[in-house]
Amino acid sequence: MIRAILLAAGKGTRMKSARPKVLHELCGRPMLWFALRALRAAGVDDILVVTNPELQERVGDLGVKGIVQPEQRGTGDAVKIALEALTPHPRGCIIVAYGDMPLVSEAAFEAVRAALTESAGGDAPAAMALVAVKMPLPSNFGRIVREGRNVARIVEARDAAPEELEIDEMNAGIYAFDESELREAIPHLQNDNAQGEYYLTDLVDHFVTHGKRVRPVASRDYVSALGINDRVELARARREMNARLCDRHMRDGVTIVDPETTYLEPELTIGRDTVIYPNTAISRLTEIGDGCTLGPNSRLSNAKIGARVTVSESVVIDSVVGDGTLVGPYAHVRAESVLGEDVRVGNFVEIKKSDLASGVKAGHLAYLGDATVGSETNVGAGTITCNYDGRNKNPTVIGRDAFIGSNSSLVAPVSIGDGALTGAGAVVTHDVAPGERVAGNPARPLPKK
Ligand code: UD1
Ligand code: MG
Repeated sequence: MIRAILLAAGKGTRMKSARPKVLHELCGRPMLWFALRALRAAGVDDILVVTNPELQERVGDLGVKGIVQPEQRGTGDAVKIALEALTPHPRGCIIVAYGDMPLVSEAAFEAVRAALTESAGGDAPAAMALVAVKMPLPSNFGRIVREGRNVARIVEARDAAPEELEIDEMNAGIYAFDESELREAIPHLQNDNAQGEYYLTDLVDHFVTHGKRVRPVASRDYVSALGINDRVELARARREMNARLCDRHMRDGVTIVDPETTYLEPELTIGRDTVIYPNTAISRLTEIGDGCTLGPNSRLSNAKIGARVTVSESVVIDSVVGDGTLVGPYAHVRAESVLGEDVRVGNFVEIKKSDLASGVKAGHLAYLGDATVGSETNVGAGTITCNYDGRNKNPTVIGRDAFIGSNSSLVAPVSIGDGALTGAGAVVTHDVAPGERVAGNPARPLPKK
């Protein structure tokens, strides 16, 4: 049985924020989300987060249970509180990690778990395993003090003697414990240190002096162990996370012209041979097909984009865009709009909650809100659906092969039939029949040709 305790009750004072530290976001997800993802990817589904009261209210949003640590008396105290809430499983393995290290990998959890139980050369199983990471100095991480090849203890940077501060092997803060050993040891922790806290890290000394084995997992990947304590570190971690996301998509066949100014999130799908130009942010659950051209200067959020779509200098939010469609430059498509195949929407056009069938063209300076437009219809420059009467949003329905003249105002609710035409500057206040031609303010039928 493998369970995990994730410590996240700290006040995070250095963030200088009303928001709990682990809920600050990088790449569109709270930092705690990433640690949870890595744990789950390592096969650990039973996770208990140690929280403070503010975090406790929100932690359920991440699909995980929390337990409040009433006073932040240190990482050892936090684990003690979690253990009291967990049903004992005498032969279980408990992974412990910190919620402020979003770059952590599933491999680190797997390695530490394996190190706990493996019996190298007939060794007895260990009481504890931990990730020991080489890191450039100076550093505020806890130092791993060795005696010979064995780990003897961890000394926190604040409590370290000058020669101990020269040690460049650090405690990453990723541990696996034999549950019975952990439960037996935790009441023995003392708080006679620089911070007056119960340090989880003192367990190493406790185990070693009681003849138990503590196994280190050596690592050189210090970047993955970096914790976030302030907003400077948050920005550094974001940059690293974003670079990893870009690398993954590039390896999967996406061209990213400038990864440093392309902003990705974790749960995206991007097809092969899609090219992303600089200053483009793609977020939430966006899905993009093959061979698209996106950016520069664009934002796509929760968008479903087909194949061979171009989105340049534009915004697409919560909307669907069909194959071969061209959006931009300077278009805004939002609120569950659906653009069919080979649609053209560009040059200062806003599309809100509208459905444009294939081949529709709205190339210049238009607003289509709560509208349905049939295939191959041309929407002239400056066309406005006047969808709001001061109280309600009203629909506009335009048929197929219609021609909406420049600067038409379509006063909704209104419908315009297939093949109908409105003249330039028409103010359409009544329905227009299929094939009918109207012009003027208010628009009236033109004489039949
Ligand atoms: C800790 C380790 C240090 C390690 C470093 C790695 C201890 C004593 N030290 O130091 O050896 O190198 O992490 O990043 O463990 N927390 C609680 N309750 C508390 C105190 C802390 O839940 O009472 C949580 C915090 O929210 C945080 C985590 O524990 O997520 C670590 O606490 P933090 O104060 O950041 O410890 P570090 O000084 O970074
Ligand atoms: Mg920390």
